[in-house]
Amino acid sequence: MQTGPDAIQATSSRPAAQAGSRAVAPKMELRGISKKFSTRRGEVVALAECNLAVEKAEFVTVVGPSGCGKSTLLMMAAGLTEPTTGDIFVDGQLAGAPGPKRSVVFQRFALFPSETAAQNIEFGLRVAGIDKAERAARVAELLTMMGLEQFRDAYPSELSGGMQQRVAIARALIVRPEILLMDEPFGALDAQTRTVLQEEVSRLRRQMDYTVLFITHSVEEAVYLGDRVVVMSRRPGRIKTEITIPRDAAWRGKQIEDASNYSDFNDVRRQIWELVRSEIVRE
Ligand SMILES: Nc1ncnc2c1ncn2[C@@H]1O[C@H](COP(=O)(O)OP(=O)(O)O)[C@@H](O)[C@H]1O
Ligand SMILES: [Mg+2]
Repeated sequence: MQTGPDAIQATSSRPAAQAGSRAVAPKMELRGISKKFSTRRGEVVALAECNLAVEKAEFVTVVGPSGCGKSTLLMMAAGLTEPTTGDIFVDGQLAGAPGPKRSVVFQRFALFPSETAAQNIEFGLRVAGIDKAERAARVAELLTMMGLEQFRDAYPSELSGGMQQRVAIARALIVRPEILLMDEPFGALDAQTRTVLQEEVSRLRRQMDYTVLFITHSVEEAVYLGDRVVVMSRRPGRIKTEITIPRDAAWRGKQIEDASNYSDFNDVRRQIWELVRSEIVRE
């Protein structure tokens, strides 16, 4: 493994903090999570003993080889899949069913096809029983934030992939979640659109201080967006290494194509890529 610059520390997966051993609980904590699926071809152990703590306002990115259990990890963090063992805590409390504290953005936009952009964005507020005037105000705010004003009455089939993903992000943000869970949200987009959205998520993040767990197969994206990059092993997925990226890294606030002009960025990207590559199984 190549040694990164001093400022960038690789730490081996650390055990979850014991309850009571720290003043403030992590915003989200996965403790002893594993997942076994029963399939017609037998049991698949997707994840083995994962411990991960995400601090309030921290942006954690997760990389790992295809099939190592990244999506499974995220689904469990969202409360959408039950772990086989282990628990998920939010603010130190056992997290139950999905609720407005945690919003999810998937790779495939998952919009309602027969609803307009504005109606899709409004969805979580209708579920929460928010009154019409406030819903309208918040939808307008999100349309502006995501640059979707012109598309409020468009149906998903009339929108490009990038626009659909903006709607999906707006829909996740409108409930003012404390935790944003994103599973390869830009994976289905063309390169240009992906670049623009990566920069916007980076900007939003600097403005809003969300707590984010962000899955990606792109090491570059993980380093660009993350405060900490978690590297997973091949299946059964474990947390192999965590690499902290300094908040004041020189490339922060820069465009992603400019980030690669910084040697720190390239060093850490290469270091993480080597870690991921060593986990890829040739089939
Ligand atoms: N619902 C399911 N039933 C059976 N096997 C599953 C299911 N979901 C995922 N798996 C298996 O678990 C492993 C991890 O999948 P996944 O979490 O999607 O990986 P990743 O997102 O890292 O590519 C894979 O071997 C996959 O086939
Ligand atoms: Mg996946």
